Amino acid sequence: MTILVTGARGNVARALVGRLLEDGHEVRAAGRDPGAARLPGGVEVVAADLARPEGWDAALNGVTTAFLYAGTAGLGGFLARAGGLAHVVVLSAAGADPASDDAITRAHGEAEQAVRDSGIPWTFVRPGGFAANRLVWARSIRADGVVRDPFPDSHAALVHEADIAAVAACALTSSGHVGAVHTLTGPESLTVRQQAALIGAAAGRPVRVEAQDLDEHRRELTAVFEARGLGSVGSADVVEARIRRLAALVDRPQPTTTTVLDVTGRPARGFAEWAADHAAEFG
Ligand SMILES: NC(=O)c1ccc[n+]([C@@H]2O[C@H](COP(=O)([O-])OP(=O)(O)OC[C@H]3O[C@@H](n4cnc5c(N)ncnc54)[C@H](OP(=O)(O)O)[C@@H]3O)[C@@H](O)[C@H]2O)c1
Repeated sequence: MTILVTGARGNVARALVGRLLEDGHEVRAAGRDPGAARLPGGVEVVAADLARPEGWDAALNGVTTAFLYAGTAGLGGFLARAGGLAHVVVLSAAGADPASDDAITRAHGEAEQAVRDSGIPWTFVRPGGFAANRLVWARSIRADGVVRDPFPDSHAALVHEADIAAVAACALTSSGHVGAVHTLTGPESLTVRQQAALIGAAAGRPVRVEAQDLDEHRRELTAVFEARGLGSVGSADVVEARIRRLAALVDRPQPTTTTVLDVTGRPARGFAEWAADHAAEFG
């Protein structure tokens, strides 16, 4: 049985492909740029883009189970071709809600609704903030030992991509997950300053935090989101939603969930472990 993993180049998809291969599953990965996917040898990687749904017929051929990056543009076209799937596990986001005022949670809520309406049995994986978002600090940490951020006391319970992948792998390969909504966080709420200190400890160098001008941050976030590709969600809306969210989290520790432990039987990895896993990128 071949499992299709979309979004081949993404941090979550790469971790998931590795995990499924380790567990002995047959995997096909699909991404917009198969050459850029950097996946282990032996994985079939096919070109597919949600913005061009006609390309998915080949990716879906012979597949019964899929992990879906839920961009909204083209999702209807994908779902129309995916009617033969027995199960789709969707990478959504915590708080997904089609009626939300927040552009990010609204887009994910709309994507979930489209999946529900398709009739394909589903599981929604709803992570909070990814620890991998902190990779955008790598360049300034390597160059100057500095993190520039407008909200140094903003909290987040960041989740390791390996834990998102582990939960998705359980949902894809074991029974009991159809119709389940798995909301995931990391195991602890940390401020930007605390996260930077843990990266410094892992990389073996001090890292200081400087307050960043908000407009400079806005420009940087816009570049990051445009590079990732966000389907039909306007970059400006997403950037403003993200900034409002970060500002609201100043001095507000975030609740955590036990979903990673409950689903996988293994506690969620802490941010120190994530920093150690990525120390070379910051060192
Ligand atoms: N970052 C967070 O804190 C966070 C939190 C909760 C939920 N999420 C959600 O998780 C998803 C990925 O997050 P990220 O941007 O942070 O991860 P990322 O690791 O930067 O990956 C971006 C992913 O989007 C895929 N993608 C983008 N446009 C696509 C398209 N038109 N067709 C098919 N695949 C497309 C990319 O696949 P290819 O380039 O290989 O095609 C890649 O896997 C997004 O839906 C995001 O909203 C993120």
